[in-house]
Amino acid sequence: MTGIAAQKKGCIFNLDGVIVDTSRYHYVAWKRLCNQLGFDFTPEQHEKLRGLSRMASLEQLLEWGNIYMTEAEKLHWSDVKNNWYVEMISDLKPGDVLPGAILFLRQVREAGLKVALASASRSARQVLNTTRLDAYFDAIIDGNSTRKAIPDPECYLLAARALGLEPFECFIFEDSDLGVLAGVAGGFFVIGVGDPDYLSKAHMVIPGFENLSYTDLLTRITANMYSHT
Ligand code: G6P
Repeated sequence: MTGIAAQKKGCIFNLDGVIVDTSRYHYVAWKRLCNQLGFDFTPEQHEKLRGLSRMASLEQLLEWGNIYMTEAEKLHWSDVKNNWYVEMISDLKPGDVLPGAILFLRQVREAGLKVALASASRSARQVLNTTRLDAYFDAIIDGNSTRKAIPDPECYLLAARALGLEPFECFIFEDSDLGVLAGVAGGFFVIGVGDPDYLSKAHMVIPGFENLSYTDLLTRITANMYSHT
């Protein structure tokens, strides 16, 4: 084993939109809330909310909708949105896991890497539980375990620490541009998952895990490195 394969001992995965197709439920719930408050919310705007905490997302939406709310009103409406979201994800099935994600998780574990989840969502454990993914993770850092939101790297640093690893020993898989920035700032090798136009600061970008083996990934990273020398 040489180079990057020998150095990396852990993988840290974001959840919503990386492992499980829950982003669309966040979108539907936020859109319903915006419409109820009298303005619209587009998929493009939703891209900018990826990775933000619930309250930070609401505050961004209120800014776009040009609406003022007291702190008590914000708490009320963020609870309303969360209740809609939790109701939708109560029906999640293992089939909601994104294509190729389980196989990839198995492969990194078989390769001897430790695996953590790092998510801003306070419902992350429920999502892992209903999709029966819990067993793949050695550590779970969710919105209940963090105090600082991305672009602060706190959630990833906590995840690495929970695995007993240093940031340079871990890959991060992340679908939000702020999450990518946070990972890079924390000293991790960050793999963007999704549209390269939104993830330009990642060390590399993959469209998802479908048809991607861990060995393929290492080959692509090595090829990328040489193409930049
Ligand atoms: C993740 C998602 C965001 C979501 C946030 C908080 O970061 O990407 O869209 O707003 O978690 O989720 P929660 O379930 O706690 O409202």
